[in-house]
Amino acid sequence: MESKRVPSGMETVRVDLGSRSYPILIGHGTLSDFGRAYAARGLGSVAAIVTNPTVARLYLDPVRAGLEAQGVAATVVEIPDGEEFKTLATAGRIYGDLIRAGLDRRGCIVTLGAGAVGHTAGFVAATYLRGIDFVQVPTTLEAQIDASVGGKTGVDHPLGKNMIGAFYQPKLVYIDTETLMTLPRREVVAGMAEVIKHGLIRDEALVRFLESKIEKVADLAIEPEQLVSLIARNCRIKAGVVAADETEAGLREILNYGHTVGHAVEAVTGYRVYKHGEAVMLGMLAAGRIGVIKGFWKPADLQRQNALIEKLGIPSGARTLEADKLIGRMASDKKARDGVIRFVLPETIGRAVTCDTVKRTEIEEGIRYMQERAPEPV
Ligand SMILES: NC(=O)c1ccc[n+]([C@@H]2O[C@H](COP(=O)([O-])OP(=O)(O)OC[C@H]3O[C@@H](n4cnc5c(N)ncnc54)[C@H](O)[C@@H]3O)[C@@H](O)[C@H]2O)c1
Ligand SMILES: [Zn+2]
Repeated sequence: MESKRVPSGMETVRVDLGSRSYPILIGHGTLSDFGRAYAARGLGSVAAIVTNPTVARLYLDPVRAGLEAQGVAATVVEIPDGEEFKTLATAGRIYGDLIRAGLDRRGCIVTLGAGAVGHTAGFVAATYLRGIDFVQVPTTLEAQIDASVGGKTGVDHPLGKNMIGAFYQPKLVYIDTETLMTLPRREVVAGMAEVIKHGLIRDEALVRFLESKIEKVADLAIEPEQLVSLIARNCRIKAGVVAADETEAGLREILNYGHTVGHAVEAVTGYRVYKHGEAVMLGMLAAGRIGVIKGFWKPADLQRQNALIEKLGIPSGARTLEADKLIGRMASDKKARDGVIRFVLPETIGRAVTCDTVKRTEIEEGIRYMQERAPEPV
């Protein structure tokens, strides 16, 4: 993995996956240059931009115009906004639009939007005509530093989230951090959970940076250059882990810090109460405490973690969650093996390991600790 400044002022993070390697380009106010970056990669002269109405209203014009200026014929496929449309039915509609538009093997899908658009349209790219090129233009913090790095694509099934999917790498990820400026604050804060997570599992210096600036970052009140470099730093962390373990056979699991409990919190509340990142914040409180109980982590480090989460605001309402239900979900999660609940636990700030030997009583204590810290709903 290498990182360098490119002449246009954009930063590049290379995701090293042999013949499937690709660059992530990151800049601020650079959306209208997307067409040039696309053409420079030698991608197809017919493109289908898959987006949703919310993002299209804000960002479709410069993306489409940039492609057309390069002689690329661009069709637009709009899918409804929302996680509830991350389904096979939506994928089916996209296939239909691509066939009607005559997109052949040389065509390219451009996903413009957040995680749900990227995941669904990425899955379509992986399967349409047995796989065509695709490019991601992510527009949320979560998608820029997490969902668009690493090639996970897929859709939900009524019986479970992300149950259908493929590992499929894009040819290019193009990030304009200025698109974050239109994001509701709650979405930015939710994305910050993954930034904290990256620091805790891989990068102590990032944690120190957050300790001095997290409120400003959550308000996006930092210099554009700082924002670009923060996003690049997070992409580099995720890209480094993914390059070492593309299909989650080992190291990649550490990216699930806070997610064992977090996924259960999302599931038992029907995915309607918490944003993914909010659930991860709660999950980090529980897992951090379990790390201390197990003797992996120093209490002082847990306090450092918690102080960051508190500055963002611990999501409310977790006190009414039932520990039995949460633990039941954890045991049936697709990441559990033979019912053994696997945790990622921190060792120091900047290093984490997986652990299969967390006892039920320890999980319960982690959940209790998380609930004691979560405010009552207002
Ligand atoms: N592959 C991975 O590793 C990974 C990691 C995390 C999440 N995900 C997936 O990503 C999805 C969640 O993604 P998300 O958090 O990006 O949320 P999202 O896709 O639900 O988007 C959040 C909302 O913000 C809107 N939006 C997007 N960009 C905007 C902008 N710039 N300005 C204003 N509004 C904007 C969207 O239209 C949507 O209403 C889930 O489906 C999840 O499974 C995948
Ligand atoms: Zn996550």
